Amino acid sequence: MLSAIRYEPGTLYLLDQRVLPSEERWLSLTTAAEVAAAISAMVVRGAPAIAIAAGYGLALSQRRGDDLDTAAEGLARARPTAVNLRWAVERLRGAPDIEAAARALHEDDLRVNVALGEHGADLLDGGVLTICNTGALATGGHGTALGMVRSAIAVGRDVHLYACETRPWLQGARLTAWECAQDRIRCTLVADGAAASVLASGRARAVVVGCDRVARNGDTANKLGTLNLAVVARHCGVPFYVAMPWSSYDRETATGRDIVVEERDPAELGGFQGGTVDAWNPAFDVTPAGLVTGWVTESGVLKALPPSVSPLPLPR
Ligand code: MRU
Repeated sequence: MLSAIRYEPGTLYLLDQRVLPSEERWLSLTTAAEVAAAISAMVVRGAPAIAIAAGYGLALSQRRGDDLDTAAEGLARARPTAVNLRWAVERLRGAPDIEAAARALHEDDLRVNVALGEHGADLLDGGVLTICNTGALATGGHGTALGMVRSAIAVGRDVHLYACETRPWLQGARLTAWECAQDRIRCTLVADGAAASVLASGRARAVVVGCDRVARNGDTANKLGTLNLAVVARHCGVPFYVAMPWSSYDRETATGRDIVVEERDPAELGGFQGGTVDAWNPAFDVTPAGLVTGWVTESGVLKALPPSVSPLPLPR
């Protein structure tokens, strides 16, 4: 199975996602500060994957005898929106053997994704629209939204994926298209602006996306452009599913208004203009819970996250 994170005692190896698909370059990191820098620079990206990398970063720090508080703080701050990152750092910070706990977190993520995929497989058939990369590259393996697609194909569904290119970093064009090609998943790349046409024309009959943080009321932060898909899906009467491992559910955050949305360097967007153009570059947007048809988790599909059942008990 495709994997972008490997650990050997004392060294974390990350597949550099900045240079895919033209180059498969692995970086070796030996300190928590290097891991935090790699997360900020998007060497590794995707909410579950950055949580796993941070876990190994803490393990490196413990092994070297470095200050754990400094390491934990630097890792947790590396990217602000994905709650998995903070969740993993807090969970592992107190473990007596952080290396073993980080390995367990990594293995657990794969199990979670496979279970989530199995719960969601029945929801997908025919054309499916997605955004960003939510596959093995973004997780400990299998993927969340892309994991649902993999699981649906495994049970015989005739899924054809439409992948938004996902500007400005092109996670869809560079990573999802590459990952699908590796696994022979039928995938058609579309410009982000073509998403409405994909739905309006009936090419896709469902939208499935990942998430970086789901607030207590179900408002969902995910890659910039997700909100556009949700609005168009509602207009077209197409179901809009969020693949949500419970590690992405943040019961301490009441609504989407309280979610910190990462803003990245405007040069990522306007760099080709020599950095002279004024640009706003939020990495994520927040989709109101009311536009979500269902959240697919490792413990089943939720049709709503009503306040009466929130905060939900975490299954682990
Ligand atoms: O900026 P990125 O590439 O880290 O954004 C990733 C996403 O928005 C994903 O949809 C989300 O993290 C879920 S990955 C399983």
